[in-house]
Amino acid sequence: MFKIILHFVAILIALAGSIEYNKVTTPVKEPSTIEELGELLFFDKILSGNKSISCASCHKPNIAFADNVAFSFGVDSLKGIRNTPSAMNVGDRPSFFWDGRAASLEEQALIPISNPIEMNLKITEAINRLNKSNTYSKYFNILFKENANAKNLGIAIAAFEKTLETSNTSFDRYMNGDSLNYSESAKRGRILFNVKGKCFDCHFGPDFTGDEFRNIGLYNGKELNDEGRSAISKNEKDKGKFKTPSLRNVAVTGPYMHNGMFTSLSQVIDYYNTPTKIVSGSINTDSLIVPDLLLSKQDKIDLENFLNTLTDDRFLKK
Ligand code: HEC
Ligand code: HEC
Repeated sequence: MFKIILHFVAILIALAGSIEYNKVTTPVKEPSTIEELGELLFFDKILSGNKSISCASCHKPNIAFADNVAFSFGVDSLKGIRNTPSAMNVGDRPSFFWDGRAASLEEQALIPISNPIEMNLKITEAINRLNKSNTYSKYFNILFKENANAKNLGIAIAAFEKTLETSNTSFDRYMNGDSLNYSESAKRGRILFNVKGKCFDCHFGPDFTGDEFRNIGLYNGKELNDEGRSAISKNEKDKGKFKTPSLRNVAVTGPYMHNGMFTSLSQVIDYYNTPTKIVSGSINTDSLIVPDLLLSKQDKIDLENFLNTLTDDRFLKK
């Protein structure tokens, strides 16, 4: 009997979860706002050359709009060259992509569409398709009072992305005074994050990123040869620097780093603890990254437990 009740409860929880989850994942049929039009577009394969993928193919809604592979596949199964970051909590970012080459979400949204190894569709062709579609031409004209064009396409997709904010996490509840439901281990982890681990020096602010470009030692000019920021800034000093990622939902967005080289948070923590044991010959590493953080086994567990509290309730494993 107890088992049956448990089973029933599990189903109820799963149902409750899927209802809430549907709010962000099942696009509306008839968009009545620009955000909803953007949502429809984000999930629509019409924006890829051979109509095989959408933004959501790589930015998967059930894992905080990130991907679960080191490199995502674009049209014709072409493999990408960088790890797909979460498309959540992007509203407050001053730059986009690991190297910061896009300055606004509106500008960013068009880049994957025309990228030959991602969606591979010329923007002019994307606009043609939208204006030829009875439904989209209607929606654009109602919501923007004009036909689809590159500008309003970017605005619509960006408007949807700006709705993808995370604040319902156990960490946020703790910050709002609920310390009973926050484990002692996570509390210790938070202090380790702020002090001994020096994580907070780079991952600060409401979304755990200072939005700066930093080099944590994952560039050695050999097997790790993505130069990151310097290819954009043309400044030698920026070699190996990447945009500090937000850590909201980090427990569900692995693999990690610009190249997806770590599959778990414990691997990431092991790296920060003794980076030079894991990558040799790193060039231009930030002075905050030291050869040994001297984290104990318990420290590592606590740090990971803290990171786990940054997950939006919608993505908690049921
Ligand atoms: C084939 C997989 C793929 C598809 C399809 C794709 N993306 Fe991405 N997305 C990526 C990768 C990989 C990156 C990181 C690339 C880089 O930094 O050079 C990225 C980066 C981003 C970022 C930047 C996040 C940040 O924190 O800097 C946003 C926002 C984003 N994509 C939104 C979109 C939108 C909107 C679409 C559809 C129009 C889309 N993506 C389609 C793989 C994809
Ligand atoms: C010097 C600044 C700096 C410090 C200190 C730092 N980080 Fe980072 N963190 C970054 C940057 C930059 C990246 C991306 C690096 C890359 O891809 O090459 C990153 C990536 C990560 C990621 C992967 C996120 C993802 O989505 O791929 C995690 C997790 C992380 N850091 C946690 C931590 C923890 C825990 C600490 C403390 C032990 C820490 N960081 C200390 C700057 C920093």
